[in-house]
Amino acid sequence: MRVLTGIQPSGDLHIGNYFGSIKQMVEAQKTSETFAFIANYHAQTSVTDGKRLAELTMQSATDFLALGIDPQKSTFWVQSDVKEVLELYWVLSSFTPTGLLERAHSYKDKTARGFATNHSLFSYPVLMAADILLYSPDIVPVGKDQIQHVEIARDIAVKFNNQYGDILKLPEFKIEESVATVPGIDGQKMSKSYGNTVNIFGQEKKQLKTIKKIVTENVAMEEPKEYENCNVYNMAKLFLEGDNLIELQERYKKGGEGHGHFKIYLGEVMWGYFKEYREKREYYQANQDEVREILKLGAKKATQTIQPMIEKIRTATGIKY
Ligand code: ADP
Ligand code: TRP
Repeated sequence: MRVLTGIQPSGDLHIGNYFGSIKQMVEAQKTSETFAFIANYHAQTSVTDGKRLAELTMQSATDFLALGIDPQKSTFWVQSDVKEVLELYWVLSSFTPTGLLERAHSYKDKTARGFATNHSLFSYPVLMAADILLYSPDIVPVGKDQIQHVEIARDIAVKFNNQYGDILKLPEFKIEESVATVPGIDGQKMSKSYGNTVNIFGQEKKQLKTIKKIVTENVAMEEPKEYENCNVYNMAKLFLEGDNLIELQERYKKGGEGHGHFKIYLGEVMWGYFKEYREKREYYQANQDEVREILKLGAKKATQTIQPMIEKIRTATGIKY
């Protein structure tokens, strides 16, 4: 089974990104043929500082390798290193009714929030359809906000196939229901746009400072405390299993400790959890040439994979003459 996903290079990763998405991708490598790319063309819809985009692309590649994307098991590349995607984007544009794009939630949201609209924002789902259809994946794991984009890719593929025959494979999306939304320090969904994140990488002191800002109930130190709805507990349980989790529950029930103690404990647990990843990241940061080499090899593998498909498309559409 082939699984494909694109990740926007959007800066510092937080634990919501990790438990909601990256961990699943890393797990998928064990059982599926995985394709993962850094969607730098998509990021151009919001990042217009060229130097910044180049930095973000390398930072994302470094972070994903550190967190377990294994170039031996996955094809891992940067979107813009396989230019055929832009060719297919154009081909698919003729099979994309403008009404379909006008109904896209993410476009409507962005315009409603006052973003200046432009064509790249509008045609974003067509590029995403090209990303998907070029590689013929069986499954595209996405967050809820991206379901509609995969559906648009299917609609476009149907229209294309009606004209040229059964060439494009219709993708299925997959939502990981078992992964609950990770709460931020204020209890809302953790998201960069809400400014409530706990980042995976960074300095220990800074991480602890953020953890100390987690909103908690005001209960006297000696009183027993509820753990079910506690933001500190809900974050800690992502990192704990079995006896360790039960032990923490007991500490809540017993009383005698304040939320400050639980926060310090959470900080320690989190710091320990990501230790190995931090070390790997330091390694890749010191060896950026190796990261570039991995990406180059990934782009080569990806390019080979899509050759039969792009040839078929060129022939069918008459671009090959
Ligand atoms: P952000 O909301 O911080 O901008 P993104 O939209 O870039 O995060 O999300 C990247 C990936 O991480 C997506 O697959 C998304 O589903 C996942 N993700 C982000 N925040 C959370 C969260 N709080 N809980 C679970 N998954 C999340
Ligand atoms: N639009 C996706 C996001 O913002 C990223 C993305 C681009 C993608 N192309 C893709 C995801 C293809 C899955 C498949 O999260």
